Amino acid sequence: MELTGRAAAGGDEAGVGDGGCGAAGWVGDIGTPEKAKRVVWTREYSRPARRRSMDKGRGGVRSRAASVQEGTRSMTSTAWIDPAASVGAGCRIGHFAVLEAGVELGPGCEIGHHAVLHGGTVLGAGCRVADHAVIGKLPARAALSAVTQEKPLPPARLGDGVIVGAHAVIYAGSRIGARAMVADFAFLREEVVVGELTIVGKGVTIENKSSIGARCKLETNAYICALSTIADGCFVAPEVCFTNDNFVGRTKERFAHHRGPTLELGARIGANATILPGLTIGADALVAAGSVVTRDVPAGRIVKGAPAADWRAVPDNQLLKNQP
Ligand SMILES: CC(C)(COP(=O)(O)OP(=O)(O)OC[C@H]1O[C@@H](n2cnc3c(N)ncnc32)[C@H](O)[C@@H]1OP(=O)(O)O)[C@@H](O)C(=O)NCCC(=O)NCCS
Repeated sequence: MELTGRAAAGGDEAGVGDGGCGAAGWVGDIGTPEKAKRVVWTREYSRPARRRSMDKGRGGVRSRAASVQEGTRSMTSTAWIDPAASVGAGCRIGHFAVLEAGVELGPGCEIGHHAVLHGGTVLGAGCRVADHAVIGKLPARAALSAVTQEKPLPPARLGDGVIVGAHAVIYAGSRIGARAMVADFAFLREEVVVGELTIVGKGVTIENKSSIGARCKLETNAYICALSTIADGCFVAPEVCFTNDNFVGRTKERFAHHRGPTLELGARIGANATILPGLTIGADALVAAGSVVTRDVPAGRIVKGAPAADWRAVPDNQLLKNQP
């Protein structure tokens, strides 16, 4: 059976009607999960000559058809799928999505309209990528960038069941653990690691070379600066701001001192708090909302105020080990 990688807006090469487009908003349905067959796109061109020549005139966007193993269903999509990408059985690809060379989709992935998966990006089974998300983007170093480097990076890798929201951007060299969520408009720079089941909320920024553990919650618009480390089970409330440069953009000396905050196991940061560079928030410690943290926080203590001062112990029933 034949698969068409890109078709006219009018759907002149349908295949949509055979049940492959059941969910609203999805155009292509490649195969069925239960078959779990891998679909490897080939360089075959089998679409009408008229359509191919039209495509050539559109800045290099080309139509292509692919051969698939027997038992998969046909699909129609305006997606652009490189012949060197591989698409697992049961994947659904939205209109105008782009899958560059070397992209690998595990079985049952859903890729939204206009999503872009850059070269080599790897998605495990059952990942959901919403409209306009970009995965595997390469960084561009501005002339005055302090931390960004232009160097080869491994492709972005997403574990099984990862959810990526609309307009989220995940750079190359990032690794997202299984069943983590990266919500709408979140922004993850290169060499970011996110652990399993962690939620990266709407609009969160995680700058380069930061590491986030498993089962963390980073809430709306939190800012995690470059070179930060967050252990498992941490909570970062909305609008929290991490910092990594005490020289505030001046002197060459600052390059030797860039260091983001470290959150130890189960640490929590209240809304709109600011954490100064290189500080450690101890295990299970809590920073009160709006605090400015200027000193390390001992494990299990609550600090509050600006500058944040020690207040009291975190109640036992709030310790990570006492959670269900
Ligand atoms: C730290 C915190 C848990 C303390 O709450 P609490 O135990 O109910 O404390 P209280 O409201 O009884 O306040 C106790 C004292 O601390 C002060 N205080 C409370 N929160 C403060 C804060 N964020 N910064 C400075 N002082 C604070 C109070 O003014 C009060 O002072 P007083 O005794 O002189 O009158 C709470 O203030 C906080 O920061 N919660 C975080 C909320 C948040 O960000 N959630 C994230 C998910 S949305």
